[in-house]
Amino acid sequence: MIALTLPTAGRQSEIRIARGLLHSEAAPLVAATVPGRRALIVSDTNVEPIHLAPLASGLQQAGFTTLSLALEPGEQNKTAASLERIYRACHLAGLTRRDTIIALGGGVIGDLAGFAAATWQRGIYLVQVPTTLMAQVDSSVGGKTAIDMPYAKNTVGAFYQPHAILVDPDTLDTLPPARLSDGLAEVVKYAAIRDPGLLDLLEGRSLADLDYATLVERSIRTKADYVLADEFDQGLRMQLNFGHTLGHAIEQLTGYEAYFHGEAVSIGMMLALRLGAILGITPPGLIDRLGSLLTALGLPTTPPPLPAERLLGAVRGDKKLLGDSLNLILIRELGEAIIHPLSLNELAMLYAKLPPTPGAPA
Ligand SMILES: NC(=O)c1ccc[n+]([C@@H]2O[C@H](COP(=O)([O-])OP(=O)(O)OC[C@H]3O[C@@H](n4cnc5c(N)ncnc54)[C@H](O)[C@@H]3O)[C@@H](O)[C@H]2O)c1
Ligand SMILES: [Zn+2]
Repeated sequence: MIALTLPTAGRQSEIRIARGLLHSEAAPLVAATVPGRRALIVSDTNVEPIHLAPLASGLQQAGFTTLSLALEPGEQNKTAASLERIYRACHLAGLTRRDTIIALGGGVIGDLAGFAAATWQRGIYLVQVPTTLMAQVDSSVGGKTAIDMPYAKNTVGAFYQPHAILVDPDTLDTLPPARLSDGLAEVVKYAAIRDPGLLDLLEGRSLADLDYATLVERSIRTKADYVLADEFDQGLRMQLNFGHTLGHAIEQLTGYEAYFHGEAVSIGMMLALRLGAILGITPPGLIDRLGSLLTALGLPTTPPPLPAERLLGAVRGDKKLLGDSLNLILIRELGEAIIHPLSLNELAMLYAKLPPTPGAPA
C-alpha cells in the first residue's frame, strides 16, 4: 500500500493507494481516521451496484452504522437539488460533527458530497473514495468541492480537504475505455507541466496495458505537490490549468455534451502548445510528441469547427479571468510549465496566427 500525507492549512489528509483496498483496508482506515461511528455513503446509481457492498459491509464490521444514497449519475445532477438530497440523508442518518460522509464515485459525486461535508453542521468528516480515473488522479485530491448552478459550472463551492482519500485502482476495471482516456488527459497534463517520466509509462502502450496503479500514484504525488505549495489557488497551482482555459471554452460552447472534460482538455493542451510555439516558448517537437500520445490514448487533438471569436468570447466569460487579462499556462520544455499573463486582445492576436482548423468557418 502506498501511504502519503498531505498536510494542508486545516488538516492532514491521509492518502492510501492499493489494489483491492475497498475489499480490505478501506473500512479499518476510515475507522482509524474518524471519531464517530455513523457514515453516509454517497454514490450514484452506476457505482452503487458495483462498488458499495464491500465498503458498506467492511464499515459495518468495523462498528459503523451506515446509510447509503445513490444519486442519478452525471454532470447534469451536480446541482443544488442533489445537494439537498444529501442533506436530507445526513439528517436521516443522524450525522453529527463527529460523523462522516464518504464520497464513493467519480468527480461529480466527489464534488457534491465534498461540498455537503463542508457545509453540513459547518463541516463534518469527509472521506473520498474515487472510482473514475479522473477522480483518482485529480478531483479527489486538493479539496475543491462544488456544485453547478443553471448559469455557471462549479460556481458555488468550498475548499474543504478530505480527512482521507482511499484509492483502489481495481475499481477502474469496470470503467468504459472512453472514461479511461478522459482521465489520461490529466495524466498527460501532469507529464507536461511537472513529471516528464510519466511519458515512459504512457508511450507505446495500449489502454489495456497501462499500469494504472503507478499512474495514479505519480499523478497524486504531483497534484499533492501543487496543493501543498498553493492550497488556495493563488499562484503556482494555476499551472494545473494547463489546457483548461481553452478546454473549458470548448466545453461551454458545445453545451458540455460533445466532449468529456478530459477530451476538451486534450484539445486545449494542444492549442496551448501550438500558441506557445508561436511565441517561441514551446519547442515544436513537443507538439508532435504529445499530439501523437494523446491520439494513441484515444483523445481528440483538434478543436471542433468553431469561429475564433466564439472561442475567445467563451474565454472572456471564464471565472479565472482577472479583469481583461488571463494567465495562459505554457510549456517551456517537457515537465516545465510557465504562467504567461496576457490580455484578451493579445490572446486573440496570437490565436489568429494559428493555422486554421479544417472545417472552421473563416
Ligand atoms: N474538484 C476538483 O478538483 C475537480 C477536478 C477535476 C474534475 N472535477 C469535476 O469532476 C467531474 C467529472 O468527474 P468524472 O469524470 O469522474 O465524472 P463522473 O463522476 O460523472 O463519472 C463518470 C461516469 O462514470 C460512472 N462511474 C464512476 N465510477 C465508475 C466505475 N468504477 N465503474 C463504472 N462506472 C463508473 C459514473 O456513474 C458516471 O456515469 C466534473 O464535475 C468536474 O467538474 C473536479
Ligand atoms: Zn481538468
